[in-house]
Amino acid sequence: MDITAVIAHDHEEQRRLFAILEEIDSSDVESLRAVWRRLDILLEAHAKAEEKLFYPRLLQLQKDLIEPSDPSDETEDAIHDHNEIRDTIADVSKHEVGSVEWRKAVLEVNTANGDHMAEEEREGLADFRRHISLEERHRMAVEFTVFELNHASGITPHDEDPKEYVQEHKDS
Ligand SMILES: [Fe+2]
Ligand SMILES: [Fe+2]
Repeated sequence: MDITAVIAHDHEEQRRLFAILEEIDSSDVESLRAVWRRLDILLEAHAKAEEKLFYPRLLQLQKDLIEPSDPSDETEDAIHDHNEIRDTIADVSKHEVGSVEWRKAVLEVNTANGDHMAEEEREGLADFRRHISLEERHRMAVEFTVFELNHASGITPHDEDPKEYVQEHKDS
C-alpha cells in the first residue's frame, strides 16, 4: 500500500458519492442526507489528513527538487483550495436538502473539489511517486488511513492560512 494510492482511492470514493447523489430523486431527502453526510465527513477528514501528513512531507522535498513545479506554490495553492472547498461545504447546510438551491450548492462543492483533486493528482501525487521511497510511502499510507479512521465520525472544519502553513512546515 502506498499513500498516493490511498489518496487516489479517496478521490475515487468522493467522485462516486457525488455521482450517487445525482442518481437519487430530489424527493428522497433521507437518502440524499445519508450520502451527503458521508461525503461531508470524508471531504473534511481527507483534507485534514493531507494537511497533517501529505503536504508537510511534500514541502520537505523543496531542497532536493530539480523540477519546474515548486512544492511551496503547489502547497499554498492546495491549502487555498481546501479552504474554498470547506466554504462550499458550509454553504450546502444553508439550504433545504433536495431543493434546487441545495443541488446547486452541492454542485459548487463538486466543482471546487473536482478541480482540486485533478491538480493534486497531476502535481503532489506525481512528486511523491518520483521522489519518495516506496517504504516511506507505505508507512505514510498506514498513518493516513489511521488518521481518517480516528475521525470517521466527523471532524470540525478548520481553515489554515496558506502562506503561514507553508512557512510553518517548510523549515520544520
Ligand atoms: Fe487536497
Ligand atoms: Fe486529496
